[in-house]
Amino acid sequence: MTNDYYKQWESNGYINVPGVIPEDECKPYLEICNRVLDSFLENNPESGEPGYVNGHSMRKIENSAYHETHRADQIALLDLFADPRILEIANAVLGEDVLYRCSTYWYEPKTKHENGNWHRDVQFTNPDLDEQRKIIDDNPPQTGIQLFLPLVESSDSEYVPGSHLRWDTPEEFRIRIEDDQKNNQTDEMPNALRFHLKPGDVAAFNANGLHRGRYHTDKKRRSLMLTYTSPSYAKEDYFTTTPYFSEAGFLDDLKPDSQVFYQRYIDHFADFWKSET
Ligand SMILES: [Fe+2]
Repeated sequence: MTNDYYKQWESNGYINVPGVIPEDECKPYLEICNRVLDSFLENNPESGEPGYVNGHSMRKIENSAYHETHRADQIALLDLFADPRILEIANAVLGEDVLYRCSTYWYEPKTKHENGNWHRDVQFTNPDLDEQRKIIDDNPPQTGIQLFLPLVESSDSEYVPGSHLRWDTPEEFRIRIEDDQKNNQTDEMPNALRFHLKPGDVAAFNANGLHRGRYHTDKKRRSLMLTYTSPSYAKEDYFTTTPYFSEAGFLDDLKPDSQVFYQRYIDHFADFWKSET
């Protein structure tokens, strides 16, 4: 199975694994994440201001600021992010024991209804088209993975299978880039595959391939996205600025395997967190 994940990832650019966490097991996580989201919308502890109701996602849902009187919720989330059924997939795709990087919770906007833009993530870091093309042609080894774990049924992501291995066709290029990107919200992308996911399914895609999300006010989007990285590519940045992991007793009462998993993360970043304070 492990090898199958890798093969699917390499050839299609995505994986879709049904029933990784049984649907019944997901219900408590939905309640916890919704409580955290309500708290974020009231007051985002990172900014001291209300979270954006027309936003798409919030980060770091395990942050102690959300769990001061809900420690059991924090333990449940941390154990979920370190669950061997999930880590097996991340480890298989990256080919080694991954390191934790970040948690994200996706939610639907309150009033700003829109289709997402077709894009390749590489276009945000490399606006130059020749550079983008070179990166796609080189097909760099995967150094991180973002696993979607919906907590309600979700059909909010689309992907063009195999597009991570090649440059845009003329029609794809017209949609993604031409006319100042005026066409990039179209529903007419050739060969687009929409993921239809149930709570507890896991899906992921290579973000160098063509993809987009959907941000509709009337379609509940409550989906976790768990990000892991190859240890040798672990970066000190916003995502890993999580000093609450250094709090005394932070790992107490987690499952033993979860403690081992996060201790590797803490060992990697403890000095960074100290230097930040
Ligand atoms: Fe993207």
